[in-house]
Amino acid sequence: MKVTIIGAGNVGASCASLLAEKNIVNEIVLLDIRDKFAEGKSLDIAQMLPIISSNTTHIIGFTNDYSKSKNSEVIIITCGIPRKPGMSRDDLVNTNAKIIHSVTKESIYFSPKAKFIIVSNPLDVMSYVAYLTAKVDYSRVIGMAGILDSARYRYFLSKELNCSPHDIQTLLLGGHGDTMVPLYRYTSISGIPIMEFISREKNQVIIEKTKKGGEQIVNLLGTSAWMAPSASVVQMVEAIIKDSKRILSCSVFLKGEYDLKDVYLGVPVMLGKSGIEKIIELKLNQEERNLLKKSANHIKNMIKKLDNF
Ligand code: NAI
Ligand code: 2OP
Repeated sequence: MKVTIIGAGNVGASCASLLAEKNIVNEIVLLDIRDKFAEGKSLDIAQMLPIISSNTTHIIGFTNDYSKSKNSEVIIITCGIPRKPGMSRDDLVNTNAKIIHSVTKESIYFSPKAKFIIVSNPLDVMSYVAYLTAKVDYSRVIGMAGILDSARYRYFLSKELNCSPHDIQTLLLGGHGDTMVPLYRYTSISGIPIMEFISREKNQVIIEKTKKGGEQIVNLLGTSAWMAPSASVVQMVEAIIKDSKRILSCSVFLKGEYDLKDVYLGVPVMLGKSGIEKIIELKLNQEERNLLKKSANHIKNMIKKLDNF
């Protein structure tokens, strides 16, 4: 089983090391445009393998040589620029679109059957760019955001309620950004509805914190997060490789689901060996539908701003 990661920066390198720790793939290829960077990163991670007793036998890095990604099962796209303090994810749109277009084109050529996981921001628009470029079924081009945003919501809730984040279940829809739609009605702690623990007003404060979760880290670190994002990506890779039919929130191409179409947006999906095996349509109330529509409109407006790549 071979996985290629494009972009050996913070997210890409952490994905490689977390994947190696999981023992679920035998070959990981890292590619980057920076001369010798992927080579250096992969060598460091490879030298960790004997210590962590990983079954991953090959972690190899290359500068821009896509032939080395040949026949990958999964391709993770983490390349492009991250935001700096004062920037929004949306500010990255045209720079990253050109990068995502070119790396998707190169990689689909060598791995025509691969499933793609997109990480680069602005996430929903970059997933759309990769989908248009790869010209494959939508089920094979999946954006990572909902798992990360849900994890932040679970974390902040667990701090407020002084309980284990592990026991908090939730669903979060919409775009990766300020218009994300955390679903209070679909949040529970070990099956007990969240409204038994926290008022709607207090929960709204947690939601606002979640929306600003990425920005909080950018302000602290001067660049964006990578540990929680890479753990989220690895959860998706694992679901695909093990065909575990997990139901997770991912950004996917909508074709009329939720009365939305021609847009990538976060919704619950079933992930298995074919990639997206099902899009789950929830019976949203009017308020939730309105929020989702607003989020879709935001993504669509950004798509309109794309230069002709
Ligand atoms: P980084 O700057 O640490 O790494 C990006 C890497 O991409 C660099 O090593 C760079 O040389 C490489 N790169 C640039 N152009 C390339 C090209 N044409 N071909 C191959 N490699 C290329 O950035 P980081 O922190 O790893 O973030 C990567 C992207 O992921 C950013 O756009 C960031 O906003 C996004 N991100 C998205 C998250 C999400 O929830 N979807 C979470 C975290 C980051
Ligand atoms: C985040 O939410 C950068 O989108 C990334 O941390």
